[in-house]
Amino acid sequence: MTRKFSIIITLLLLLGTQSVNSQNNDSAQPMLTVKQIMNGIITPATATIWGAYQLQSEAEWLEVQNAALAVIGAGNLLALGGAAEGEQGVAEEAEWIGFNNEMVAAAQEVIAAVEARDEEALSEAGNNSLYPPCESCHQRYQNQ
Ligand code: HEC
Repeated sequence: MTRKFSIIITLLLLLGTQSVNSQNNDSAQPMLTVKQIMNGIITPATATIWGAYQLQSEAEWLEVQNAALAVIGAGNLLALGGAAEGEQGVAEEAEWIGFNNEMVAAAQEVIAAVEARDEEALSEAGNNSLYPPCESCHQRYQNQ
């Protein structure tokens, strides 16, 4: 192997250990930081839910339902706490649990609206139920 190649591979390995928690291979323990849960799961899922408009095909409704399932899964992970330092302790706080449960309940409202194929209920669930717990939790815990 040329020297140039081995330097590139070393750099890639270093980058890899920074972006994912490769130390921890125990999937019963938190493997993602809160930031990774936000960017990897919650942001794409909520983009689908908040972007839903004039849904027509079954596939479009199903996509919104799957996005709500992803939010519930993320809530499940947030209840355990993230993998970064201190993130499991924070997850035991009543406020954290409260905001997280609100988010999960809102995602369940989204699913109910999807099951009823009711776009008005969907947009209400998205704006009035799903958005507020994001804001409240960030005000309390982001940049802490
Ligand atoms: C239970 C608390 C909690 C809830 C609920 C929550 N978040 Fe977060 N979120 C956080 C924390 C804490 C951070 C900061 C993570 C960090 O910087 O390490 C964060 C950061 C973020 C970020 C910035 C990520 C970055 O790269 O800095 C985005 C985007 C985000 N959240 C989206 C959302 C959305 C959308 C919702 C609602 C559907 C939501 N979050 C609900 C706790 C929460």
